[in-house]
Amino acid sequence: MLKSRLKPLPQKSSRRLKVYNQVMSIFPTTFSKPQAVKKTISPAADEAIDFLNERGLTVLVGVDEELAAAISKMANEQHIREYCPNDCSKRFADLEATRGWLSHRHAVFTLAKKNEDGSWRAVGYGWSGPKKVDEVPGGETTFALRIGKAGLGQHLSEPFSQVVLAATAKLYDAKNFWLETWASNAAAVHVYKKLGFKLVNQKPGKRPTADSQQVDDTRLYMFLPSN
Ligand SMILES: CC(C)(COP(=O)(O)OP(=O)(O)OC[C@H]1O[C@@H](n2cnc3c(N)ncnc32)[C@H](O)[C@@H]1OP(=O)(O)O)[C@@H](O)C(=O)NCCC(=O)NCCS
Repeated sequence: MLKSRLKPLPQKSSRRLKVYNQVMSIFPTTFSKPQAVKKTISPAADEAIDFLNERGLTVLVGVDEELAAAISKMANEQHIREYCPNDCSKRFADLEATRGWLSHRHAVFTLAKKNEDGSWRAVGYGWSGPKKVDEVPGGETTFALRIGKAGLGQHLSEPFSQVVLAATAKLYDAKNFWLETWASNAAAVHVYKKLGFKLVNQKPGKRPTADSQQVDDTRLYMFLPSN
């Protein structure tokens, strides 16, 4: 997983550069046409793409307004609001909010199924982007994961994450992934450990819930070594 590091780009490289069969660029800052993440990323990610394709699923990178609306709807599902209330109230609250959030450099990935008319139906979503925090020394690139209720419990979160992480490394020359989660989010913690993330820091905190309460929980900070 994530072993295929790219050589550093030459200084004079343009913003967009054809590498393998995809275009490498800086992290997106606005809406863009979603494109299927293609194979030849890394053996583990290619296997994950096969696993998802066999189930009729494609990982898309880039988000347009139509997909953002679908993500916004999913972000309102109870199990996502419970652990990620900022998705529906801030990041994906509406198109203007998403446009503003994207401007801070975020690559949005959607786990999607194709409808008969060729449009995409979102089953899950996630993103990556450059971000540093004091709690994770060496962490450079953050990563987030959500699976909608239609895809829950089908072991999709690990392969989807593998594709998001490996595609982020390849497309944006990103490294040193890290994430934040809550200790009570056992399924998420389980998946992150399976992906290779290690706990590097933790702090007691108050978690905002789906119904706007605050409950005692522990904020976990995890880092993915050697990516
Ligand atoms: C976290 C999330 C992505 C997991 O997706 P999922 O569809 O529920 O889980 P999957 O079917 O992919 O499987 C997850 C794994 O966790 C395990 N798991 C599920 N519930 C668990 C629990 N309560 N405790 C421990 N492990 C659990 C599953 O057995 C499976 O393990 P395996 O693959 O080793 O058999 C999904 O629940 C979700 O989107 N939740 C809301 C948003 C969220 O919390 N995102 C993470 C924010 S940090």
